[in-house]
Amino acid sequence: MQTPFYKISETKLQYDINLLKQALKGNWGNYIAGYSVKTNSLPWLLTYLKQEGFWAEVVSSTEYDLVRRLGYEDAKIIYNGPIKNKEIFGRILTAGGYLNMDSSEELDWIEELSRSYPDRQFDVGLRVNFDIAKHCPAEELAEEEGSRFGYCYENGSLKQVIQRIRSLPNVRVAGLHLHSATKSRSVGVYGVIAGMAVRIAEEYQLNLSYVDVGGGFFGGRDDKPDYRDYFKEIGSVLREYFDPAETKIIAEPGISLISRAIVFETTVKDIKNIRNHKYIVTDGSRTNLNPLVTRHIYPHHIIYDEETCPLDMRMTEASQWVCGFTCMEYDRLFEIQNDKALMPGDRIVYDVAGGYTMCLNPLFINYLPAVWAERQDGRLFLARAAWGNVEYLQKNYW
Ligand SMILES: Cc1ncc(COP(=O)(O)O)c(C=O)c1O
Repeated sequence: MQTPFYKISETKLQYDINLLKQALKGNWGNYIAGYSVKTNSLPWLLTYLKQEGFWAEVVSSTEYDLVRRLGYEDAKIIYNGPIKNKEIFGRILTAGGYLNMDSSEELDWIEELSRSYPDRQFDVGLRVNFDIAKHCPAEELAEEEGSRFGYCYENGSLKQVIQRIRSLPNVRVAGLHLHSATKSRSVGVYGVIAGMAVRIAEEYQLNLSYVDVGGGFFGGRDDKPDYRDYFKEIGSVLREYFDPAETKIIAEPGISLISRAIVFETTVKDIKNIRNHKYIVTDGSRTNLNPLVTRHIYPHHIIYDEETCPLDMRMTEASQWVCGFTCMEYDRLFEIQNDKALMPGDRIVYDVAGGYTMCLNPLFINYLPAVWAERQDGRLFLARAAWGNVEYLQKNYW
């Protein structure tokens, strides 16, 4: 198969889907499994997850339109995000989908909706902003200064929003959304998130239909916690106040659900000796794997082309730098020290490569790589053909 390409293993994807569902079922029972569309919005993947009963968690009108085109109903969408579309806002709430309010204008919209449809009941959720660093001083936060999303608990904004909604006869605060990203992704953070849901519900006497704990979990790594650990902790804290028969847990994982299943496969094209360096030039790029330039490690494995040169015939090299195809100097991925010499035709396969990579791939020098899905019976299915100039030129005029 022509490299570079992403490959999704259906078997591995199904493993993490089952792990999530079992953890939610075993620790709470009453749940909605959502999927964070922005993490990887490949249509094949969204369709697979829909068939598995997932709801789509969307944060823009573009994502909303995409999932609707793929057959998600309004009633199975979780609409989040700091900037929403007024029409979609009304549509989701009318259809009984879930919506977590986050902005000032949404308050005006809900008041308008309440006035326009006095005979209808509207349930809304609120994105909560709380000082996670105060509760988890040891955690490495996604943003040092704290989150900028949701209504602030500490300065009384959340309380004001709750009061404003309470003044509407046909609107109810039915849910709290507490997605809080940390780099450390520790189990303890989720205990704090659940504890915050308990505290807010108690303090403001909220009768909640759901607590949305967001995403941000580890997944696909045997050396880290997984869904079983997170939902055990969440369930045990929520039980202090909530009854699973009355209140659902919503989870909306992204990367933890898909990373184990996706690899990115590249081929060594050239070996260059420059002064005392050895550069291994491949047909993949850092832009395909680390578009935000935040990663420092690239889990991978190598498939040596033993037909070209058997492993025992290869010299040991002190240092080999694996690089991408672009003509940017920064396109260097990792160094291999004291190992077998790589040769053209060898494959470098990057593991855990599918979260926040495919969707963030730039159209830089080359366009989007192909994506293959490996079905559970081993057959390969082309989920996306590599983009060429037919795709690039569309909607261009000259
Ligand atoms: C609101 C919300 N939910 C879910 C997610 C998914 O997070 P992750 O991919 O870390 O699981 C994000 C990611 O930023 C998010 O902002």
